[in-house]
Amino acid sequence: MISTKMTDSINEQINKEIYSGYLYLSMAAYSASIGLNGFANWFKAQLQEEIAHAQKFYDYIVKQGGRVVLQAIDEPPKDFKDARDLFQKTLDHEKIVTKRINDLVIIARKENDRATETLLQWFVTEQVEEEETPTRILQKFDLIGKDENGLLTIDSQLATRVSVPPQSGA
Ligand code: FEO
Repeated sequence: MISTKMTDSINEQINKEIYSGYLYLSMAAYSASIGLNGFANWFKAQLQEEIAHAQKFYDYIVKQGGRVVLQAIDEPPKDFKDARDLFQKTLDHEKIVTKRINDLVIIARKENDRATETLLQWFVTEQVEEEETPTRILQKFDLIGKDENGLLTIDSQLATRVSVPPQSGA
């Protein structure tokens, strides 16, 4: 059985995961608008990943006999400075998500809720990757400087990302 406080906190996180997806879809739209289709592909794949995160929390609450309550999604930003800015903002956003997950762990511990703490361990590990990936891409931007061919090479690499299948929780 899951407490009301834990359920409410996870419901809030479902909203934040879907907002993350919404943010990345906005970044995909911006990328497509400036002709960076590989970037657009990468951010659309990231949208799928965030939806999978939201579904993982959703399924968990249902399994625990709790009630999923969905909340309004905030409007994401639509304007970005340039291609590099997309990944700087991705990294900044993922750091916020990491803090939120860590806060959920603290709540689970206070509630003596071992099951939720175990679920959250998956997200703690996932956030390491969620921060690492944009960090590595930002390093590539530092390497290429203002070289437009370098930017197109990054675009080609980002075009190869494949979306996770729905419900995989990856
Ligand atoms: Fe759901 Fe990007 O963390």
